[in-house]
Amino acid sequence: MYLLIAVASIIVLHYIFYTPVALCEISSVMQRDPAARSKAEVFFLYTGLHALVFHRYAHFFYNHGMKFVARLISQYSKFVTGIEIHPGATIGRGLFIDHGTGVVIGETAIIGENCTLYQGVTLGGTGKDKGKRHPTLGDNVMVGCGAKVLGPFTVGSNSKIAANAVVLSEVPENSTCVGVPARIVRINNKRISPNDLDHIHMPDPTSQEICKLHKLIDDLSKRVDELSK
Ligand SMILES: CC(C)(COP(=O)(O)OP(=O)(O)OC[C@H]1O[C@@H](n2cnc3c(N)ncnc32)[C@H](O)[C@@H]1OP(=O)(O)O)[C@@H](O)C(=O)NCCC(=O)NCCS
Repeated sequence: MYLLIAVASIIVLHYIFYTPVALCEISSVMQRDPAARSKAEVFFLYTGLHALVFHRYAHFFYNHGMKFVARLISQYSKFVTGIEIHPGATIGRGLFIDHGTGVVIGETAIIGENCTLYQGVTLGGTGKDKGKRHPTLGDNVMVGCGAKVLGPFTVGSNSKIAANAVVLSEVPENSTCVGVPARIVRINNKRISPNDLDHIHMPDPTSQEICKLHKLIDDLSKRVDELSK
């Protein structure tokens, strides 16, 4: 009997805190998930939304020096959702974490507005940096399932990180990154060929000019020959 009352109290408490913040975030899920059939479904069953709401509380306590309470909330959230967001992470409005299981967001990560993360995404550090050691995502960034973004660099707004990519350096705005380690394959919807990004085999401008001069000399000497005949 006491156990039943304890469980019921936890559920009631959960929804008392969950409801007001969840209502503000539901619309971003409805807009971006074609599988979301109703607001009720999103409200009760979307673990990404649950994790985000509990992060908002954890972050509040973290910013007000109550680090233990903050961690307690984030660990409770991890236990019920499978999504671990450090209470120190700064997250903008409209984050949609789809499916969610295995998502890890580090302490100094910053996420802009209206970003989307799929299951298994890590916004982590490489272990080499101190202080700011996790990535910053601009607005409207999509990070595909299983992708790892590691280090204190920025992923520009409107960029897409492909499923299972491992991103280790800055990504410009409006880009698509794929592979391990990730390389940029599109910028502003234009395909980038691997040669465009080859910084080792760059054409040498001096030798190009010398070639042009050689050709000019050849042409001129042919012309002189013709005229002299
Ligand atoms: C990267 C992605 C966003 C597509 O972006 P896009 O800008 O439309 O790029 P394209 O589809 O034109 O692909 C560009 C190139 O990257 C390659 N590519 C795309 N996704 C890739 C991936 N995950 N890994 C490796 N290469 C990939 C394509 O084959 C293509 O190569 P090509 O130029 O040699 O033909 C998409 O493929 C993706 O990975 N989305 C993640 C979705 C997800 O995680 N869903 C989970 C739902 S549960």
